[in-house]
Amino acid sequence: MKNITLEELVSYLKDVGFVYQGSEIYGGLSNTWDFGPLGVELKNNIKQAWWQKFVRESKENVGLDSAILMNKEVWVATGHIASFSDPLIDCRRCKARFRADKLVEDFSNGTVEADGMSNDELYNYLVDNKVKCPTCGATDFTPIRKFNLMFKTFQGVLEDAKSEVYLRPETAQGIFVNFKNVLRTTRKKLPFGIAQVGKSFRNEITPGNFVFRTREFEQMELEFFCKPGTELEWFNYWRKYCFDFLVSLGVKPENLRMRDHSQEELAFYSNATTDIEFLFPWGFGELWGIASRTDYDLKSHQNHSKENLEYLDPETNTKYLPYVVEPSVGVERMLLSVLFSAYDEEEVGTEDKKDVRKVLHLIPRLAPYKVAVLPLIKKVHGDKAQEIYTELSKHFSCVYDDTANIGKRYRREDQIGTPYCICVDDETLTNNTVTIRDRDTMQQVTLKLDEVVSWVENKLLF
Ligand code: GAP
Repeated sequence: MKNITLEELVSYLKDVGFVYQGSEIYGGLSNTWDFGPLGVELKNNIKQAWWQKFVRESKENVGLDSAILMNKEVWVATGHIASFSDPLIDCRRCKARFRADKLVEDFSNGTVEADGMSNDELYNYLVDNKVKCPTCGATDFTPIRKFNLMFKTFQGVLEDAKSEVYLRPETAQGIFVNFKNVLRTTRKKLPFGIAQVGKSFRNEITPGNFVFRTREFEQMELEFFCKPGTELEWFNYWRKYCFDFLVSLGVKPENLRMRDHSQEELAFYSNATTDIEFLFPWGFGELWGIASRTDYDLKSHQNHSKENLEYLDPETNTKYLPYVVEPSVGVERMLLSVLFSAYDEEEVGTEDKKDVRKVLHLIPRLAPYKVAVLPLIKKVHGDKAQEIYTELSKHFSCVYDDTANIGKRYRREDQIGTPYCICVDDETLTNNTVTIRDRDTMQQVTLKLDEVVSWVENKLLF
């Protein structure tokens, strides 16, 4: 198994068409990335797989797609306007800017949990330990200021306080403000969940590590509403469900760990939180946060909006605010962990003619193209291959390639993760059969043409 570095992965993804630098022809816009023809397919497949498991196959859950722009009062209610901020610190000598909590964590090699520390505690730690500016080495920092992470803009033609709106920093609040609507229109009973996938925006002070931390990203969030007192049971249920889902996508369990938040680290409204972390090349990093959030969000919206958001329990005939368990994950972080898990460089060939093939062992369901249709000889088999490509494309994403020799074309498909290559040859013309080559085993099977669709569809189940 090749342990690819981040730099190698970025260069490979750019070469084959997964991810490009954003606004590249204008010199780029730092920390923005565009998903190319393969990247958009992979991203869509990840979102669809999540939707399948968290909405369609979870009988308690339903979906939602709420607006990105919301009434400013939503963010007043949740405390985002007052305190969704990072501790910003400047180096007086070189003017470089940092997150003070990151400086503490990096200096202590992760042994100090800076998340729960106040600004004074962070500042004192930096001074007491003579922490140096990572850019110029000075030990002369400004005091820490709160930097709000929400992007602010204006709705309509006037740019005044009344028309201020924010790009949402999480999709979750769109779910909470629709709790009553969903309850009324679905007639759901507790426990039930509302799931949503969509863009979120945070003006991060230190974005980086490619798509791991960006200012524009996508989240897949579930808010699972349950009866108070049952929340820890559901918390454990979703914690395991998320872990198993990652493994089913091909992420190796040995590269995952569950990090439970300590009492000091827990947000004041949470009675349990676990981060599922993935071993990225730079170390373990948060992939998926699962939090038991009590009734904090519904209560905040109820108090601020003056709308009653209580649930009438038909069993006890009592009214209460449900508790919430929230598994929240970034699409791009999941994509990164899937790619790091799938990429390999393997020695192939014979003793006297050794070769290395780049291969992406994506599970078939996530592969950008499920099938490559390859005529053995373009002039002889091209028309039939085009016909097969047209038919198969109605069922799953396919690619057609008639350039270079068949061996080179197999390699090309291996490195972008296409699990099945169909070779169209003389047998196809005379017997209506094709050979299908498996990316991982490189073995071939022969099938009747009319068996191909169901054969491939079977492989796409997971
Ligand atoms: N509603 C809860 C919430 O948003 P979070 O821990 O701030 O919680 C959840 O974010 C997930 O979203 C993270 O675990 C991560 O996968 C992803 N995420 C957060 N900030 C991100 C960023 N700047 N870039 C990429 N992904 C991010």
